[in-house]
Amino acid sequence: MDIKNRTVFIAGGTSGIGLGLARRFAAAGGTVIVGGRRPGSVDGLSTVELDVTEADSVRRARDTVLESHPDLDLVITMSGVQLTEDLRDPGHFATAETTVQTNLLGTIRVLDAFTPHLLARGAGTFVTVSSGIGFLPFPLMATYAASKAGVHAYTEALRAQLAGTGVEVTELVPPAVATTPEHKRLNPRALDLDAYLDEVLELLGQDPTPDEILVQGVLQHRWAERDGTYADLVAQRSQALETLPGR
Ligand SMILES: NC(=O)c1ccc[n+]([C@@H]2O[C@H](COP(=O)([O-])OP(=O)(O)OC[C@H]3O[C@@H](n4cnc5c(N)ncnc54)[C@H](OP(=O)(O)O)[C@@H]3O)[C@@H](O)[C@H]2O)c1
Repeated sequence: MDIKNRTVFIAGGTSGIGLGLARRFAAAGGTVIVGGRRPGSVDGLSTVELDVTEADSVRRARDTVLESHPDLDLVITMSGVQLTEDLRDPGHFATAETTVQTNLLGTIRVLDAFTPHLLARGAGTFVTVSSGIGFLPFPLMATYAASKAGVHAYTEALRAQLAGTGVEVTELVPPAVATTPEHKRLNPRALDLDAYLDEVLELLGQDPTPDEILVQGVLQHRWAERDGTYADLVAQRSQALETLPGR
């Protein structure tokens, strides 16, 4: 897809990968609006308040964005929480609910809100955001993995349902990306944000737009089952369960 001069709304663009992507699209001549619960934390970009767990908030944000940017042609559903859970503790259910409400239902709410607009234009792009963990579970983040596997499956269906409308659907599948120094300290193997974004923009800029944006660092997760490395990698990743209290 053409990454220059786009009019972009990034739900979940107030920090991390979303904010980094927002700045890249702005640098490529685009007009960018970012949404989140903390819009005041962002300098130099248009912002809108958005809580993807609340249907009214999503509709309000959609109306605000389309009123000021009727030529909107790219929507990125980046909002997400990445929470760990101890499944032996029934108290984890609140975490499971928050995760599904935000990552899966939140994605669907934002897609639903903007689908009529993009269909009416007859051209445009949705970018959804799953995770390598959606393809290769990280057992410490159980519902997170389920929510991202759900985003992947939903994205596949959305692409099929919008085929022929002029609206393309692509799925960003990030591996671990260090968006803060603390993140890098906890996971030294996480990719640096700028290096990750360089690869993402390169792939997004291809024509036709790939169905999935797979940087080199996520290929081992994405294709583990096909490559026969799945069981070993899940066992390796299960070692992190030792960090849970009482294990
Ligand atoms: N970084 C990684 O290693 C990695 C790997 C794979 C996938 N991902 C995915 O990439 C996306 C971005 O992750 P990140 O690492 O950049 O995390 P981040 O810095 O925590 O960003 C998350 C974004 O989601 C927004 N958000 C959270 N809850 C929301 C809600 N209820 N309503 C609206 N917005 C909400 C946050 O904004 P507010 O706080 O302002 O609401 C923020 O802008 C997530 O979907 C994540 O699952 C990340």
